[in-house]
Amino acid sequence: MATAASRRDFEFRANSLECRFRDDVLAGLGQERKAIPARWFYDTRGSEIFEEITQLPEYYPTRAEVATLEQHGGELGEAIGPDRIVVEFGAGSATKTPLLLDRIAPSAYVPIDIAGEFLRQSCAALAESYPDLPIFPIEADFTRATPIPSELLGHERLGFFPGSTIGNLEPRAAVDLLREMRATLGDGSLLLIGMDRIKAPGTLLAAYDDAAGVTARFNLNLARRINDELDGTIPLDALVHRAVWNEDRARIEMHLEATRDISFHVCARYFTLLAGETIHTENSHKYDEAGARTLLLAGGWEPTHFYSDRDNRFMVVLARAIETAITP
Ligand code: AVI
Repeated sequence: MATAASRRDFEFRANSLECRFRDDVLAGLGQERKAIPARWFYDTRGSEIFEEITQLPEYYPTRAEVATLEQHGGELGEAIGPDRIVVEFGAGSATKTPLLLDRIAPSAYVPIDIAGEFLRQSCAALAESYPDLPIFPIEADFTRATPIPSELLGHERLGFFPGSTIGNLEPRAAVDLLREMRATLGDGSLLLIGMDRIKAPGTLLAAYDDAAGVTARFNLNLARRINDELDGTIPLDALVHRAVWNEDRARIEMHLEATRDISFHVCARYFTLLAGETIHTENSHKYDEAGARTLLLAGGWEPTHFYSDRDNRFMVVLARAIETAITP
């Protein structure tokens, strides 16, 4: 049963999340080039729409990553070994988790996700399949350092970050996150991370602008969420989904574009968008092996294995924590 202290802790975290959402939205809409961090897509409804995206014929990354984990499961099991604590960052519905858990016999599983209700549901499902595995869900923004439950201290860890979510961060922020993960996981830890490969723009654009309009719904859900949670008056009928391939930055960008001049309020602040102007809502960076290596090394991780699906669309990289020592 929840104690008064745990209820207070939950309310405090819920309030601070709401404040950060408001601060990010107001700061982002106040910029000359309007932008909102992609992490705010994932309320319960956004997480559900994202699950729909992963089933779309055009959205290859999920299937390619699952194929990679399946095809290389034996090698992964050997390279990682048993008894590690698996810390999954941004666990979502944890659909890929069994592909890993079945291969490495972990000692505990610690999923971290900002969407609390979704997290609890997926943990309940996982607990049925793994009744002997201790599970410690943590509702938090995984881009910030997150303390691991004290009863698990002293065990070596494996960070699991599938889904190519690292690609949703600018390289500088991705390096910061990798360093946070390095600090959270500690010496002797490993990281298994999914990264989407650079490929033909046509394939990428189709994946982020599907024929059924599911990705458009996902993008527009952010504006709906602002209206619902931050006293917003954004005219949703005047926004459309745009996906763009930015060759120079090797990334897909998603925007919400105004189809006419509009004005609206959010938290009693006034904003305008001219026709054609956009709110930049997401980046999805794509990597080759050299780029992935550079990013990981900068974040404190040395890649040891690159695994890919047969069509070479996606890579799952295993990296070991670089020991902190004085070097020339
Ligand atoms: C979660 N993330 C890795 C997805 C991606 O592919 O960048 C989010 C997404 N946005 C639109 N479709 C999928």
